[in-house]
Amino acid sequence: KKIVYSGIQPSGSLTIGNYIGALKNFIELQDEYNCLYCIVDMHAITVAQEPKELRKNTLDVLALYLAAGLDPKKSIIYIQSHVPAHAELGWVLNTMTGLGQLQRMTQFKDKAKKYTDVQAGLLNYPVLMAADILLYQASYVPVGEDQRQHIEITRDLAQRFNSRYSETFTIPEILTPKVGARIMSLKDPSSKMSKSDSNKDAFILILDSEENTRKKIKRAVTDSSGEFRYSDEQAGLKNLINIHASFSGMSPEEIVKKYENLGYGEFKEDLGEVVVEGLRPLRERFKEIRDDKAYLESVYKEGAEKASYLANKTLRKVYKKVGFIPR
Ligand code: TYM
Repeated sequence: KKIVYSGIQPSGSLTIGNYIGALKNFIELQDEYNCLYCIVDMHAITVAQEPKELRKNTLDVLALYLAAGLDPKKSIIYIQSHVPAHAELGWVLNTMTGLGQLQRMTQFKDKAKKYTDVQAGLLNYPVLMAADILLYQASYVPVGEDQRQHIEITRDLAQRFNSRYSETFTIPEILTPKVGARIMSLKDPSSKMSKSDSNKDAFILILDSEENTRKKIKRAVTDSSGEFRYSDEQAGLKNLINIHASFSGMSPEEIVKKYENLGYGEFKEDLGEVVVEGLRPLRERFKEIRDDKAYLESVYKEGAEKASYLANKTLRKVYKKVGFIPR
């Protein structure tokens, strides 16, 4: 079986963008592939984190994974900092990465603009991400569109290492959903939906109340044309159609057919229902799982053990090839 690898940062509550672009697709891959799903706390600290919050958020993401349907019997679920090999391979890869390549990453440029205090860790973020993926010889990486550049650099590094030494790493491929790879802000469809948006109506959290979910959808921007079409000129509506398609399984064309004679109001009403229904099982399960500390602990401990075993196999090869003396 081929290997699937992905991760999510524990940096606050997740949005339905994270759900549609990533988490939802993790679930579907579990039966066909050997999957590893990580909570990337080491990535989270590339910007300032309150230690207490980070601990809470890490367990929140773990509980979300489980509530969404990740099954520790099928997939390896673990916390990045529990497996030191990530930092170790990350270091080796850092010595092979061009500074210019890192400085050109759009995510780095965006974040560097947003934070006054920019640390080296933020610049080196994609190298650690490459280490995450390459340690496990992953063939596929399910992520949203915003991660494409990071997957490119991962492929570059893998190819560079393989040709400098010898065949070592599998070259991974990005896996994005057909619709919903980039969910946009509900208030400004030209920017990505993000939990750090200052306007709380711009995003829906996976754990928002049903009432807030419906309310935010009603307040979402569409346009004044009144026409019901799936087009880039109607970016607000297009985004809502994508959200609908992701939860209902209908194609954008089917959705247009159904609503073209009904209008935005009725569509939004139904969309609220589709999202609320789609998230209900997850929302119901979350609290119980989150409160079960012993269960969460058993999941991440077992995950760390399995992940370490696989990661160390790759790391040993790498250390040998670069010329480190084995202990
Ligand atoms: P993160 O934590 O920012 O986001 C987690 C996942 O959610 C996706 N996503 C979106 N998808 C669609 N529309 C949106 N508006 C939206 N916002 C976020 C992201 O693309 C991502 O898939 N660097 C990664 C974490 C990471 C990782 C890895 C991923 C670290 N190591 C190894 C895969 C493999 C990140 O910051 O994701």
